[in-house]
Order: sequence, then structure tokens, then C-alpha cells
Amino acid sequence: MLLKGKKVVVVGGSSGIGLATAEMAKREGADVIIASRNATRLDAMAEKLNAVAIPADVTSDQSVSELFRRCGPVDHVVVTAAQLKTGPFKTVAMDDVRSTMESKFWGAWRVARSADIRPGGSLTLVTGFLSVRPRPNSAIVGSANGALESLARALALELAPIRVNAVSPGVIDTPIRAAMPEEARRDMLAKTAAGLPVGRVGQGEDIARQILAFMANGFATGSIVYIDGGALVS
Ligand SMILES: NC(=O)c1ccc[n+]([C@@H]2O[C@H](COP(=O)([O-])OP(=O)(O)OC[C@H]3O[C@@H](n4cnc5c(N)ncnc54)[C@H](OP(=O)(O)O)[C@@H]3O)[C@@H](O)[C@H]2O)c1
Repeated sequence: MLLKGKKVVVVGGSSGIGLATAEMAKREGADVIIASRNATRLDAMAEKLNAVAIPADVTSDQSVSELFRRCGPVDHVVVTAAQLKTGPFKTVAMDDVRSTMESKFWGAWRVARSADIRPGGSLTLVTGFLSVRPRPNSAIVGSANGALESLARALALELAPIRVNAVSPGVIDTPIRAAMPEEARRDMLAKTAAGLPVGRVGQGEDIARQILAFMANGFATGSIVYIDGGALVS
């Protein structure tokens, strides 16, 4: 087993890519801690996985430092937590763009500062292909992703021998789009799938597999890997 005896923390582990990562790490023998805000959903997922649940909000310095105080020294940390608000560049509310950076960028920053990762362990950030393949109405999300990729490279130097990497997903079918009307969501996913060389959108496991590869590969640091079904070449 790839992660036997290792302690893995997934911040954002109650849903989507984070949940798939927590499940896979558990299957590979890790002791897993999942963290997110909604304690009911977090506890339910932790029970299902036989993992430990610690409620935390990445937009709060205090909450993130309390999370890692409770975790103690760990081997691998993954940050998938983010709540994104976007809209047309000229009219999107400044509160919305600030809150997007607050969770996606500053959230990862706080985690990187607070986590006590053992030497040779790893931190994996989750960015997104909008950093290099922008779409209208998503400037703030693309910018947050780009900033996170720069952060991953910088921390790979500054936090060494802890390894720091980022995975950049394409379109992944997770609850992140739960607020969309179901028909519009299915239509969007089907159209996206039809335009990709792989002929499908991603699942959480597709990204989790890369995150576990970063944990296990002691030569991987400062890497940004795009797992997007070919979105960047189509
Ligand atoms: N799905 C995609 O198509 C896609 C594409 C590119 C990039 N990404 C990126 O991948 C990451 C994971 O996305 P996903 O699709 O797995 O989303 P998801 O299914 O919505 O899961 C997000 C997780 O983060 C937690 N979370 C949100 N805000 C938080 C906060 N302030 N503090 C702590 N936890 C918080 C959520 O739980 P609570 O709400 O209970 O806190 C949940 O566990 C995000 O950074 C997203 O931008 C996703």
C-alpha cells in the first residue's frame, strides 16, 4: 500500500475532488483527516470513510491554525477547499471577487503556513485550467488559479525538503455545480465532453490519482500538472 502509516489531511475533503482523494488515500493505507465547514456533511463523510473529521474554514486564520494544532505533525496535505463567485469583469461585485481570493488563494496560503508537514512529505494545491485557458466571466477564478500555481513553485523552494506541487483540473463532475439547474448542468457537461479528445468530463478520482502520485513520488516538487481530458490541446 502506497501510504501505509502516513497521515494525510484533505482540506475540502467532504466533497468532490477532496472526497475522492480522501477515499483513495484511505484505500492506500493512510490515516486520513478531512476538514471543511459544514460539520454535518463532514461527519457523515468521515464516518463513511473511517476518517477523522475536523471542522475548519480556510477563510479564517484562527480556524486554520486550530485545525493544524489538532492535527499535529502530518505527512501529506491537500487543499481542495474553495468557494468561487464570478461574473462579468466590469460588473461583478468586488465582495464576490475578494471572497473568491479569500478562500481559494489565501485559504491555501493559510494552510501552507499552519501545516506541520514532516520532511519529505508533501503539500498539493488544486488550481484549475482557467489559469491558462480563460473563459469570459471567469477572470477572478483564472487569476486565483494562476496565483496558486506561482505559490506552489515558490513554496517548493522555500519549504524544501517538503515537496509542493499543484494539479490543475479541467471540467470535473462534482457537487461544485450543485447550484446550477440540473438540465443546464447536464447539457454543459455533455457539450464539454463532446469537445474533449477523451470524450468525457472528469471524475473526482481522475484528479485524486494525480494527487496521490504527488504524495508518493519523492522526486516531484514545483510541478504543475494539468489533468483536463485534453482541454488544453482542443
Ligand atoms: N469541479 C471542477 O470542474 C473543477 C475544475 C477546476 C478546478 N476545480 C477546483 O478543484 C477544487 C475542488 O473542487 P470540487 O469540484 O471538488 O468542489 P466541491 O465538490 O464543491 O468541494 C469543495 C470542498 O471544499 C469545502 N470548502 C469550501 N469552502 C471552504 C472553506 N471556506 N473552508 C473549508 N472548506 C471549504 C467544501 O465543504 P464545505 O462547503 O462544507 O466547507 C467541500 O468539501 C476547487 O478549488 C475548484 O476550484 C474544480
